[in-house]
Amino acid sequence: MRARTAVIPAAGMGTRFLPATKAVPKELLPMIDTPALQLIIDEAVGAGIEHVVVVTSHAKPAIEHYFEDAPEVIAKLRSTGRDHVADRLERIGRDVEVIFAYQDEALGLGHAVGCGRDGVGDEPFAVLLPDEIMGDSSLLSQMCDVSAATGGSVVGLKHVPLAEVSAYGVIDPSGPLDEHGVVRIRTMVEKPPVAEAPSDLIIIGRYVLTPDVFEKIGRVQPGAGGEIQLTDALRMQAAEGPFHGVLSDIRRFDTGNPLGWLTAVVEMALEDERIGVPFRAWLRGRV
Ligand code: UTP
Repeated sequence: MRARTAVIPAAGMGTRFLPATKAVPKELLPMIDTPALQLIIDEAVGAGIEHVVVVTSHAKPAIEHYFEDAPEVIAKLRSTGRDHVADRLERIGRDVEVIFAYQDEALGLGHAVGCGRDGVGDEPFAVLLPDEIMGDSSLLSQMCDVSAATGGSVVGLKHVPLAEVSAYGVIDPSGPLDEHGVVRIRTMVEKPPVAEAPSDLIIIGRYVLTPDVFEKIGRVQPGAGGEIQLTDALRMQAAEGPFHGVLSDIRRFDTGNPLGWLTAVVEMALEDERIGVPFRAWLRGRV
């Protein structure tokens, strides 16, 4: 079966963006005028996802607030002729069902995904890390198709120079990639030294997982700081059955740190139909 639900882990502390993230969750930082979280939901909807489980924390009430109705703001916009903005606000959370799960202590990505269990049920589901923004829905859509065809979990992959692998989860492929960029994965290692890296293919923040992963997350031994790593549960899955990766050259922004976020905003601004032209002119004069 094809994944219908997406889990978006958004309960982290966002320490790399302090002090901003003291009050504004990292997932709501604006990409021009749209919260990163909204772009992630749009990507999921574009890939055929119908339900979204946002894993948040009670320390981040702004995330739920973003999905609440705003009748006064909408009335004000309509009375001043700004109907297109009003229409946009009305669509938030309407094109897809959004529910919340809570992780009140940031015990790692594996633990956060585990917190989404009740909202997923016993079927395959997607996981989208909201601090990686993709150019479109094509990778996630292909991953959902591969998971439905193979009956196993699937991760998104990217090539990096071998010298950079030590910062990522790296896969050990069991053979060459096929013509669609799909490869079966034997196992994976988290942040290996370059000399021990099994490949130059890293796991990026898109997953389609079969529901047995929840039972495996429950068996992961907590590591440093009590964190439960998702990779440990995925390794258990890969040892038991089909587990694939999909390589993509999709445009991808890592917005989890200030430089990456700024780079993404600049790239998006250069292409934006409203501000692209004046922004480019200003930037030319400035650099
Ligand atoms: P990150 O590690 O990039 O986010 O996790 P972080 O921990 O909030 O950021 P820093 O490192 O302190 O700056 C990737 C995504 O997973 C979520 C985060 O909210 C982020 O969207 N996450 C991470 C959780 O929901 N729970 C966790 O325990 C860890």
